[in-house]
Amino acid sequence: MSELIVWSDSLSVGIQEIDEQHKILIDLLNQLHEAIVNRHAGEVTLGILSRLREYTKTHFTVEESLMRILGYPDYEEHKAHHEKLIAELESMFDKVERTGSSASFELMHFLKKWLTRHIMEEDQLYSPFFLERGARPTWEKRSWISRFWHHG
Ligand SMILES: [Fe+2]
Ligand SMILES: [Fe+2]
Repeated sequence: MSELIVWSDSLSVGIQEIDEQHKILIDLLNQLHEAIVNRHAGEVTLGILSRLREYTKTHFTVEESLMRILGYPDYEEHKAHHEKLIAELESMFDKVERTGSSASFELMHFLKKWLTRHIMEEDQLYSPFFLERGARPTWEKRSWISRFWHHG
């Protein structure tokens, strides 16, 4: 198993529920990378990129909702950053779909930067604020995020 991105504490935002979502994104990138190494990227590229696109949107929606609920001061800036990342992903997906090309190491290099920047340069900025507002560093019986969706 050759992983493109190996999870380490340097990628943590200090809130387990969000870390778990980032791990899902990392796992999708690693799956695609693995497929290139094993020379079957052609069969899986579009499927994995489409899952990546969908899960990224879900993840960004969660983050943006939390920022709004908690009154994060840099919400607009962070949201703009998400929109840019989605646009980059969409255009990459369209290109792959149009040309029928499969993932390359070059693409993986781009995606690795794309994701690690999101986590390390943007998300890690909100951690102290979220934690101050009651975010749980570790996953408890009842998730911290779910409090905002299920009353009581
Ligand atoms: Fe994130
Ligand atoms: Fe984010």
